[in-house]
Amino acid sequence: MSGIFGEEKIQEIRDRTNLAELVGSYVALKKAGRNLVALCPFHQEKTPSFNVNPERQIYKCFGCDAGGDAFDFIMRIEGLTFPEAVRRLAERCGVVLDEKPPTPEEEQRRREREHLLRINEVACAFYQRQLLEEPVGEPARRYLKARGYDRAAAEAFRLGYAPDGWEGLARHLADKGFEPAKIRELGLTREGKEGRGDYDLFRRRLLVPILDLHGQVVAFGGRVLDDSLPKYINSPESPIYHKSRILFGLFQGRQAMRQTGDALVVEGYFDQMALWRAGHPQAVATCGTALTDEHAELLKRYARRVLLLFDADKAGQAATWRGMDVLLRAGLETRVVTLAAGEDPDSFLAKQGPEAFAERLHQARPALEAFLDHALAQEDGSVEGRVRAARQVAERIALLPDPLQRDLYLKEAARRTGVDEELLRRQARPAVRPPSPVPPPAFAPPLPPEPPPGDGDWPPPPPPSAPSRSGPPPRGAAPVRRHPSAAERAQRLLLRLLLLSPTECRQVADDGVEAYFIEPALAAVAERLCALPQREGEVDPAVIAAELPADQQALLQEVATLDAALVAEAPALIRRDCRQAVARERSRQRRREVQARLQVTTDAQELTELQRELIRLKKEL
Ligand code: GTP
Ligand code: MN
Repeated sequence: MSGIFGEEKIQEIRDRTNLAELVGSYVALKKAGRNLVALCPFHQEKTPSFNVNPERQIYKCFGCDAGGDAFDFIMRIEGLTFPEAVRRLAERCGVVLDEKPPTPEEEQRRREREHLLRINEVACAFYQRQLLEEPVGEPARRYLKARGYDRAAAEAFRLGYAPDGWEGLARHLADKGFEPAKIRELGLTREGKEGRGDYDLFRRRLLVPILDLHGQVVAFGGRVLDDSLPKYINSPESPIYHKSRILFGLFQGRQAMRQTGDALVVEGYFDQMALWRAGHPQAVATCGTALTDEHAELLKRYARRVLLLFDADKAGQAATWRGMDVLLRAGLETRVVTLAAGEDPDSFLAKQGPEAFAERLHQARPALEAFLDHALAQEDGSVEGRVRAARQVAERIALLPDPLQRDLYLKEAARRTGVDEELLRRQARPAVRPPSPVPPPAFAPPLPPEPPPGDGDWPPPPPPSAPSRSGPPPRGAAPVRRHPSAAERAQRLLLRLLLLSPTECRQVADDGVEAYFIEPALAAVAERLCALPQREGEVDPAVIAAELPADQQALLQEVATLDAALVAEAPALIRRDCRQAVARERSRQRRREVQARLQVTTDAQELTELQRELIRLKKEL
């Protein structure tokens, strides 16, 4: 099944895309025999091991093992899903996809978003001009200069200045013909009282534009030029700005994250800018909010490891442990960088310089290790105290996706708290929870990321014409278990989500139902839901139950009782977890089959093939 696009279209796009040209728009390619080589954009290296084979239209990096076709490349480098990659490449090579035309509402929403983005763009240019060109910008220029920012630095971040006065921006935008109501929707202005016009939100503030992943301005942070309060006024949430999904600096930093595998997370806009200027472009700041699961998902697209670099004060410390929980749950390796008391990355760099800073990064400690120290240091050494510390640590160990790591941390925690290791182990058990029809509130356990496509053959077998991400249909029945497996739980949660949301149905249908469901009955219900005609909002299970066989009806009723609010909160996370869990389950099933077959086969060639497959499966798992 090739999803909504059709195999022929996919093939046409692949044929019409010049991979060398596509890759060449990201990295400098050099000829080397029949191949082209470059420094790999997916990991850091000094000598090129990234190869493009123009004949076969495939790429392969011998350094990090990334490899695949044009779709794989664009997915990886832009962090896209397969359908997104298809759309992107189709547009690039002029293939028209006959997708369902957008509904009038979708079209309306898209136009609305574009309109809001245009307003922000014009506002950003206005503020920039005030800062860089106008006499009124003098105080802001002085302020920046004192912090070591020259004109080039100000331009690099598109910094601006909102001058004193109540309606500089409001008037400018009105002159350009933008509607006051739309400008208010972005929070740039507020409604004036008693017949007076709207007035500007930002006045006498240095403005830092906040960009989305396309580099579009979605919001602003506005800082005072002195010690007055509030220090910052930030744009409110709007149809184009959701704090929980935006990381300041990600647009500029993600390429470096991909290459180094590391992301640095800091608290302030100025910390991010300072790091960028000091040669650490892989830094991002949250926009005045705690790190969310969605932030973690975003980071995970680009980095494997996250270094938390929060201010060395009480608030920063609390934010560090909260951030650690979120990141560990997402399966990201998490480290903590500590600065001297009262410092933040910006001030540390200014005082101690880049070498001292790099040294600190180098000394980053695994977050859990630091947390164990912290938890023990908080306690008075009494039995109760140590038990409390042990319990806190055990709760976090349970978040670790890697059993080996869990094991080592348990030993360490047991040793240091003096709590019996077995007892602690029971506290920290992630997967096995008391049998209950309702899954636990956290989407635990997080699973390791899907293995990269391709498994080391060069040249690899020709890419399949259908998206290789949709595996074969499920083989064999799931074994009977006492507790639902991670994959079963994940599939049920996703099914609940599909009942709830037509958008999610479309997404799952795009990717192919079989990428998310392995359990036949669940897959059948999901297929049914995805096949429903255009709908608004939640499906009443009774409506489709009538046409389903009894076992699927029962399943549907059971799934419908799962907490809707819970799944609605993190749809992307649920989809991803499910996909990964199912991919793993599928590999496990296949491994069992291969092992069984290995016992009985007498054919030498089959034996070799099976052995090779087994090695690959083991690596994947
Ligand atoms: P500097 O102090 O100039 O170095 O700025 P900073 O960006 O490092 O800010 P700070 O460390 O004080 O705060 C971290 C982040 O919290 C800021 O970047 C803002 O996103 C947010 N923040 C700080 N103060 C305020 C405030 O008064 N109001 C709001 N809404 N957000 C704030
Ligand atoms: Mn700061």
